[in-house]
Amino acid sequence: MTEHVKIERSAGILSLTMARPDKKNALTNAMYGALADAIQGAETDPSVRVVLIRGEGDMFTAGNDVGEFAAIATGAVQGERHVSRFLEALARSSRPLVAAVQGRAVGVGTTMLLHCDLVVLAENALLSTPFVSLALVPEASSSLLMPLRIGYARAFEMFALGEAVDAASALAWGLANRVVPLNKLDAEARALALRLAKQPAGAVSTTKRLMRDPELLMARIKAESAQFAARLQTAEAREAFTAFAERRPPDFLKLAK
Ligand code: COA
Repeated sequence: MTEHVKIERSAGILSLTMARPDKKNALTNAMYGALADAIQGAETDPSVRVVLIRGEGDMFTAGNDVGEFAAIATGAVQGERHVSRFLEALARSSRPLVAAVQGRAVGVGTTMLLHCDLVVLAENALLSTPFVSLALVPEASSSLLMPLRIGYARAFEMFALGEAVDAASALAWGLANRVVPLNKLDAEARALALRLAKQPAGAVSTTKRLMRDPELLMARIKAESAQFAARLQTAEAREAFTAFAERRPPDFLKLAK
């Protein structure tokens, strides 16, 4: 259990809130575990018809905790990594997933949106996937889903240059369903979730299953995870994590010397 994920149930909606606002909701192993348990648990809970994912504070999430990346890279952390359970829960969820996104959604903050069935953005939303900037590679089957969704040219630029995409572009590119003023975000996402919850659940989940193939997604997640784990051990990644900790830009050119 972690106090950094808030879980609420009402009117058929399981609401999951990433709640570590002082660290911009950066996701820790414990947070992945709590999210995975909740999404997996929804599969066998008939009272849950829709899962709503949101973040507390001024941004959705700054992505994986970079300190934990660094700790994995140096072998300082042991034990079960819950991120893979979280990604599997997303990929296999038969429940429709709805996301409400304000401010930044970095890394897995953006790639998890590719598994959501309805995405509502606040006008200030900024989506980015700076895996390469951290000397890593895309995960969560985003190497498959992102180019499918927005085309290779945009997807490669998002991954390789790591720049953020604003809400208007994200909507135009098909990464989201709605853009609303920030003060309407929660109400709009909840209203959409409630509408979905009132639809016939069997037809909703079968439609989702016809549109998404979990086995295909899991195969890609496995391939990405192997590369991701290897990249974590590289000198490039060490430089990226050290730079983040030292609050300076990384210098990858020095590694070539
Ligand atoms: N992992 C760990 N800690 C993080 C974090 C992350 N991904 N993102 C933010 N934080 C922490 C900061 O270290 C800071 O901690 P401190 O107050 O103890 O110094 C706190 O959260 C606030 O972050 P700050 O950088 O001051 O906020 P900001 O509004 O200026 O910038 C971001 C927000 C998201 C642009 C910036 O924090 C950032 O780039 N984070 C890293 C994102 C990233 O690379 N994620 C991994 C993707 S694969």
